[in-house]
Amino acid sequence: MGVVGLGTMGAGIAQICVQAGVETVGREVSEELAERARERIAHYLGRGVDKGRLTSEERDAALDRLTTTTELADLAGCGLVVEAVVEELDAKRELFRQLDGVVAPEAVLATNTSALSVTEIASATERPERVVGLHFFNPAPVLPLVEVVRTRAASDDAVETAYAFAERIGKRPIRCADTPGFVVNRILIPLLNDCVRVLDEAGVTPEDLDTAMTAGLNWPIGPCALIDLIGIDVHVHASEALHSALGEARMEPPPRLVEMRDAGHLGRKSGHGFFAYDT
Ligand SMILES: NC(=O)c1ccc[n+]([C@@H]2O[C@H](COP(=O)([O-])OP(=O)(O)OC[C@H]3O[C@@H](n4cnc5c(N)ncnc54)[C@H](O)[C@@H]3O)[C@@H](O)[C@H]2O)c1
Repeated sequence: MGVVGLGTMGAGIAQICVQAGVETVGREVSEELAERARERIAHYLGRGVDKGRLTSEERDAALDRLTTTTELADLAGCGLVVEAVVEELDAKRELFRQLDGVVAPEAVLATNTSALSVTEIASATERPERVVGLHFFNPAPVLPLVEVVRTRAASDDAVETAYAFAERIGKRPIRCADTPGFVVNRILIPLLNDCVRVLDEAGVTPEDLDTAMTAGLNWPIGPCALIDLIGIDVHVHASEALHSALGEARMEPPPRLVEMRDAGHLGRKSGHGFFAYDT
């Protein structure tokens, strides 16, 4: 198993894999970033030990299964590679072109993209039938869902290999086609935008809107708290991508969110969004 890009998502995906007993090679652009990712994974595995979810021996064995590298060539022996680098089409296409020349022809290449076309990424390779989307959710070690995204070019075998892999590492996969936003974001992004528009339309505070949806609909988290968790910038970017792909008015980011993004109020990560946080 290979993971390319050990940021928020890639480190989480690598952690799940080594915990599930899979030998994993993680590739980053610098040794420093690779080391930082290893430390983060060790930290979260250590928290698992503190909470009694795994023993210290299991933690050590999991860490031993992780190899980090800056060389793409070190992924040559992988049967499945998940890409989790920056959300930019050109960067992903270039990486897939390179991976295509490194891993065995029968290996499956997967992208964790949230909003880009898997088909366009796959077409950078000579093996589009072996390319799928494997869309994990943040935080990857916690949320069970994985969307297994099938392009028109993908073979049944590649899709089923990816699906079985997601099950093997303890996830709850679903299959879906390569359409903008796949399943969850296609539904969630316009819905959250509706929630933000209601703030102004109904003259309601973020606290009361969140109470409405948690106390009235049993949502586990209110929409404003959820957008703060996702990150205002990430949500605005995903809304813009969906809006430009499908053109529905509800997908356009509400001006209030664009203003917050421009002011640097990015939610939890900046300490200020709809609510204030200790950073
Ligand atoms: N953050 C989320 O909530 C979330 C959820 C689901 C999917 N995604 C998707 O996952 C992908 C990664 O998102 P993220 O939030 O983890 O980003 P991130 O910025 O935290 O991590 C990206 C990492 O990739 C590394 N990188 C860049 N180019 C590379 C290359 N050529 N080779 C190896 N490493 C490289 C960077 O150094 C960085 O550490 C994106 O496509 C994003 O849309 C993100």
